[in-house]
Amino acid sequence: MGLEETAALATGAEAPDGAVERADFRAAMSRLAAAVSVITSDGPAGRVGFTASAVCSVTDDPPTVLVCMNASSAQNRALIENGVLCVNTLRGDQEALSVRFAGQTGLTGAKRFDAHPHGVAATGAPVLADALVALDCRIERVVRVGTHDVIFGRVEAIVPGPAEGESLVYFGRAYHRLPSAAR
Ligand SMILES: Cc1cc2nc3c(=O)[nH]c(=O)nc-3n(C[C@H](O)[C@H](O)[C@H](O)COP(=O)(O)O)c2cc1C
Repeated sequence: MGLEETAALATGAEAPDGAVERADFRAAMSRLAAAVSVITSDGPAGRVGFTASAVCSVTDDPPTVLVCMNASSAQNRALIENGVLCVNTLRGDQEALSVRFAGQTGLTGAKRFDAHPHGVAATGAPVLADALVALDCRIERVVRVGTHDVIFGRVEAIVPGPAEGESLVYFGRAYHRLPSAAR
């Protein structure tokens, strides 16, 4: 974050109508560290995947997570039509996978899966090899909020990853590696 953004936050910068400016909101969000996951899906509408940090536990009864996905993403319709998704939470050394599934290497759709080993979960969603953990979900509900769809997924199966492994974290608009705690 630059000095100007920091100053804006410190003075509680607001748009003239009292609303928070989009850039200020984004700067504030950059201060929230978040695990990086790749959300995958497959089914009648095709195989898709994208990088997401807006992933959150909702409740453990029934086991439910939410994923926020830009409604204008090229993958959006297929993922929702498939009705299933898998949250693949990345290890510290999987930054390249995050970049690839964020579309930053120019790959779209199923091509993002090339050259990375993956299996298939019970719902049919792809499971990326060596993820810290994978949550196989059926989509229960989708709520549109502004530019994004909040997608609620019922967790139907958990695929544990390697017992040890760093977590890939996005914080301050940069990747970081968080060491694993003893389990
Ligand atoms: C670290 C990181 C976190 C991201 N988190 C999200 C997210 O939570 N939701 C989202 O819709 N996009 C997120 N993105 C952006 C998408 O991955 C990206 O816009 C998308 O894959 C672009 O390709 P598409 O339009 O072909 O889907 C994130 C990107 C990065 C690098």
